[in-house]
Amino acid sequence: MPSFAQHLLTTPAFLAAAMSRLPLEGAVAFPLVDDTGCKKMLMAIESLTFRKGTPVVGSPGNEVEQDFDICMNFDDKTALDAYQGAFEKQLNSAIEAMTPQPYQTPFFFNDTAALRYYEGSKGISPHRDLVCFEAVIAILTLSGEAGFYICDDRNKTNAKRLEAKAGVMILMRGKNFAGIEDRPFHFVEGITKERVGYGLRYNAKEPKEKAQ
Ligand SMILES: [Fe+2]
Repeated sequence: MPSFAQHLLTTPAFLAAAMSRLPLEGAVAFPLVDDTGCKKMLMAIESLTFRKGTPVVGSPGNEVEQDFDICMNFDDKTALDAYQGAFEKQLNSAIEAMTPQPYQTPFFFNDTAALRYYEGSKGISPHRDLVCFEAVIAILTLSGEAGFYICDDRNKTNAKRLEAKAGVMILMRGKNFAGIEDRPFHFVEGITKERVGYGLRYNAKEPKEKAQ
């Protein structure tokens, strides 16, 4: 697999400092991947087959509206795998540098999703990611722009904007990060330019090892 480490703009120490803000802030944003790295990942994503995301999901009374195309857990993803490997390596060093460790290591992601929000999309309304997603949720924007907001509830109370733009990682707390069960509400809106994002999650209900 080709190396991707040269495209990462962070260090384990930087990631540890960023993760130390997650208990209070819920999510943090920072530049993670350089332009060349984003282009390589976009090229890999261009070859994937997307489907329309289900427009409304969630239980009655807790409906979530979403407006994007999605492609999940696909094979054949060389640059995307290379990115994941390089990022996981830094993330594990960062987790191990924190006292106490916010999650056990070795940590790895086992759920991948590429998302495309077209210009003018309604985005996704306030929701929390599924309880099975633990530790950290890593949303990388590869192109375009949107507002990613952390908030207190489904009514967007105390919404705080994080700018989702190319190369920027939005790292969000999943269940059981630093022993915290609660997960932050969040939403996406203001897609001023078609946005492609790549998300990595750890589904604690899946087998421990990645299926090869
Ligand atoms: Fe989400």
